[in-house]
Amino acid sequence: MPYQSDYLVLGSGIAGLYAALKASEQGSVVVLTKKQRAESNTNYAQGGISAAIGENDSPQAHLEDTLRAGAGLCHRDAVEHMVAAAPAVIEELCAIGVEFTRRNGGFDLGREGGHSRNRIVHAHDMTGRAIEQALLHALSVRPSVTLIEHATAVELITQHHFRSRTDASTPTCYGAYALTADGRIEQFFARATILATGGCGQVYVHTTNPSIATGDGVAMAYRAGAAIANMEFIQFHPTALYEPERTGPAFLISEAVRGAGAILRNSSGKRFMPEYDDRAELAPRDVVARAIDHELKTRGDRYVWLDLRHMDASTVWERFPTIASECARRGIMLPNDMIPVVPAAHYCCGGVLTDLNGRTSIERLYACGEVACTGVHGANRLASNSLLEGVVFAGRAIADIASAPPPAPNVIADVLPWDTSGTDNLDEWILIAHDREELQTLMWDYVGIVRSDLRLERALRRIELLRREIEDFYRRTTLSPALIELRNLVTVAWLIARSALHRKESRGLHAMSDYPTSDDRWRCDTVIVADRIECRPIP
Ligand code: FAD
Ligand code: SIN
Repeated sequence: MPYQSDYLVLGSGIAGLYAALKASEQGSVVVLTKKQRAESNTNYAQGGISAAIGENDSPQAHLEDTLRAGAGLCHRDAVEHMVAAAPAVIEELCAIGVEFTRRNGGFDLGREGGHSRNRIVHAHDMTGRAIEQALLHALSVRPSVTLIEHATAVELITQHHFRSRTDASTPTCYGAYALTADGRIEQFFARATILATGGCGQVYVHTTNPSIATGDGVAMAYRAGAAIANMEFIQFHPTALYEPERTGPAFLISEAVRGAGAILRNSSGKRFMPEYDDRAELAPRDVVARAIDHELKTRGDRYVWLDLRHMDASTVWERFPTIASECARRGIMLPNDMIPVVPAAHYCCGGVLTDLNGRTSIERLYACGEVACTGVHGANRLASNSLLEGVVFAGRAIADIASAPPPAPNVIADVLPWDTSGTDNLDEWILIAHDREELQTLMWDYVGIVRSDLRLERALRRIELLRREIEDFYRRTTLSPALIELRNLVTVAWLIARSALHRKESRGLHAMSDYPTSDDRWRCDTVIVADRIECRPIP
């Protein structure tokens, strides 16, 4: 029997959980999440959530900082909505039970790169976990919500899956097929489907993102025919902990540490950031990551140092307890020892293109959080605007659906069950593991912090070959989460490389050695639909 609900939410990070909470006031909600419920990028967010609530701050100043970081590509109206809503978001999160760090009766407002004011509300250095736990707790007492763990969405259900295949109307999403814990592929139908599957950092070998971040939502939406925008704008966080023997995600050293005064030094002990930007260590991330990349390449080093030695020990341990103890576990005693750091893939500014209410180009399909391209980040996301965006646009999406709820899908009998004929358990895990590593390495080497036409063309040729091989393997093999992820990763890699090759300029996070400056002719979104790519004017 297929599952049926009013709302189907894919993902249980900040965007999915907040959407589910709001939707639960309107009707029945099913949330699918591919691992344990808390496992998400949200759960690892450190620095905090930005909101103009300080004495000398204003939404206008937050707007200006966001637009400046976005390098001419932000959708101004989207940013206006987000910064205006931010103070109320903080109040609401407190009401849900998030305990933000306080000082002298108010919030302890931190500073991060690109912000002209202290406006980062945080729960020490584990803000995301505090939010994730509070949202999960709030949802656990809502009887209208069913949360299913270890359920991996495989495909969105659209007219492509009709038995009759005669329907030529506007592409519409009726729900999703998902691989559940018992190995079956079930159908989940809903009046509206909300994609909140997060980012795709796992497409790179060095990333701060946990293993769930495989771009599933972008890949599924792309296959269903949705418009995908600005995938070339991948944010590399400047300061991930350097560990040569690391397997798995890189541990992040929050930008808030630089906000609190830490400085960057090269292997000669020289502070280098003032040579690159007047804002030094607090320049936006693209500037700091490129400066570090340049230092490493010109000096032949593998890492730079983050120096906290001038900072007060009790302040460091009180403000950054997780970072200090994770460093201590590795023999780095803060603040006396310097931390070896390198850039790592961190955030995808592009995604499934939405309007101001989270609507995608597919009827009944909404997207919010990191999977979406709402227009707020433009060519570079301002620090701590992501958690905020997740809440604001999840809320707007649910309000939009509730204002005119779509009818229950009347197509259920016409939708084909998942077809497993001709597939077998080929037991070739080595192929999956090898392809994933090959893809991650080639993305890092050729589609990384600094790009060129030559490297991107080489990357695309290899990705296209891998894509064909993986698709063939996928068609013949019994589905597993690892195979679903690999197919999505290669699709997302293609979208990133294709978009990057299209944009013949350097802007924000997209640095091209062949085109070192920005060019007004490219003040546009890169939009891909099926095999078409175009430059769409900024609204
Ligand atoms: P996520 O939180 O990643 O949740 C995605 C969910 O979708 C997960 O539950 C996942 O399991 C599920 N999922 C994925 N694919 C499928 C599928 N096929 N089927 C079912 N479920 C699926 N941003 C800030 O604003 N401030 C910060 O301080 C900050 N610090 C960060 C620190 C780190 C280490 C990292 C990695 C990111 C940080 N970010 C920060 C970015 C921010 O955390 C993320 O952008 C944000 O949490 C994304 O939220 P989300 O709900 O969109 O996605
Ligand atoms: C950090 O704490 O440095 C991450 C903040 C962010 O990604 O917004």
